[in-house]
Amino acid sequence: MDVGIARERIEGERRVAATPESVRQLVGLGLGVRIEAGAGAAAGHADGEYEAAGAHIVPELDYGAIDVLTHVRPLDPMTAARLKPGAITVGLASPSTELPTVRALAEARVGAFALELVPRISRAQSMDALTSQALVTGYRCVLEAAIRLPRFFPLYMTAAGTVPPARVLVLGAGVAGLQAIGTAKRLGARVSANDIRPASADEVASMGGTFIRLDLESAEATAGPGGYARELTADRGALQRQLLAPHVAEADVLITTAAVPGRRAPLLVTKGMVAAMRPGSVVVDMAAESGGNVEGSVPGEDVDVPTADGAGRVTLVGLKDAASAMASDASRLYAKNVANFIALMAADGEVVPDFADEVVAGACLTYDGDVRHEPTAEALAALASATARPEGHVGVLDEEIEGGAG
Ligand code: NAI
Repeated sequence: MDVGIARERIEGERRVAATPESVRQLVGLGLGVRIEAGAGAAAGHADGEYEAAGAHIVPELDYGAIDVLTHVRPLDPMTAARLKPGAITVGLASPSTELPTVRALAEARVGAFALELVPRISRAQSMDALTSQALVTGYRCVLEAAIRLPRFFPLYMTAAGTVPPARVLVLGAGVAGLQAIGTAKRLGARVSANDIRPASADEVASMGGTFIRLDLESAEATAGPGGYARELTADRGALQRQLLAPHVAEADVLITTAAVPGRRAPLLVTKGMVAAMRPGSVVVDMAAESGGNVEGSVPGEDVDVPTADGAGRVTLVGLKDAASAMASDASRLYAKNVANFIALMAADGEVVPDFADEVVAGACLTYDGDVRHEPTAEALAALASATARPEGHVGVLDEEIEGGAG
């Protein structure tokens, strides 16, 4: 069987789904590898390196012939529709936002595996692309803040006087938040953090941060399924903002990473809370692309927020494409996740999903014409009934797919 590695088509995306190292792993599994010319260039890998690792360089993949297609960003419906029945795809699929693609994959009878759906169990850690990419993002967001902050992160005691360390506050201490804490700590900042998952207090401490305990609610009410957070009620959300306000006002740098799976990012910080910070402070909203933890953040932009005392401004950074900005190491980790996932299904040069394996079954989005991921199937059914038209008319979804197909 041949594994195809696509050149990412989305503008600004610099990552690639395979590195020469992961190509060697795939070839070692008895698989052929075809990679589009220039696919790894932005991540620092020339075509010759892939060739030396055993890949065939092709000007463009023949989507109708490829057995296993790997990608970073979700496919578009047109590409999905070109795949042959029984083909397998492995990559980030963003099922909740890319419903037309999911439907096109199901209609094409493609076996689509979404790395976001890989169960978060120990055995699957080497395939967990959410974790690997969050690690990159968490690191990067601290550097984005540091470069904009008009002061040092570490304490300096010099002949010319003492400079106190910067105070960094991290809200949301999942994978990215913990990386942000560790990175800010390594730069010498004084770091504190908050999360609503009770288990996160020890994790924050283990990274060298001080956990801010808010008298918010019981552990049962904040801990959701699978170790994830549960969405706070409106009242609790308002209380959380109120209790966080003095901590935000004290910080030189605020980094927000809070998320609840399948939901819009929770609003943790209002415009007023940002305006109450000291002039020159920096806020990085890592959740800007999924609704924003901070009121007024714009993905990919720096917004100047005047401080309430009129003395200056706070820089509000809407973080976007942070993992792509570190394309080399982000791709190194991502490519490993992809190859490890394929290895799970590979035997004797063939890739055959074994649905008795909970990792394979859990990550399966579509197979043999069905949408196997329950919440996505429900979302598609709801969309189909909402867009249903009298016979002879097409629904919105059909129009989107047909429009995408060109
Ligand atoms: P995420 O990206 O879904 O959310 C980021 C953080 O935001 C979470 O820690 C969440 O509790 C927090 N959050 C949500 N609402 C908040 C609010 N209102 N205020 C403050 N914080 C809020 O989370 P991520 O990074 O994917 O991790 C989620 C869980 O999965 C964690 O328990 C983590 O330890 C676990 N995990 C397990 C792995 C494994 O066993 N293989 C691998 C990676 C993560």
